[in-house]
Amino acid sequence: MYICICKSVTDSQIRRCVRETGVRNLRGLRRELGACDQCGKCAIEARQIIAQSLDEANSGRRELLSAA
Ligand code: FES
Repeated sequence: MYICICKSVTDSQIRRCVRETGVRNLRGLRRELGACDQCGKCAIEARQIIAQSLDEANSGRRELLSAA
């Protein structure tokens, strides 16, 4: 699903960016993908996706630690 239409950035790209490039916030997303720097309407949804991705990454780390 497209999140930032003007830069053609999807939710999958945002999730991948968080996983693979260490993006932690909207500023980082703008730097990496150039997304969400025009209209501002997409920023709320992009922030939510970043937060979800960080939560998923953190829960995965917790599971690895608890299994060790
Ligand atoms: S849709 Fe691209 S900046 Fe909002």
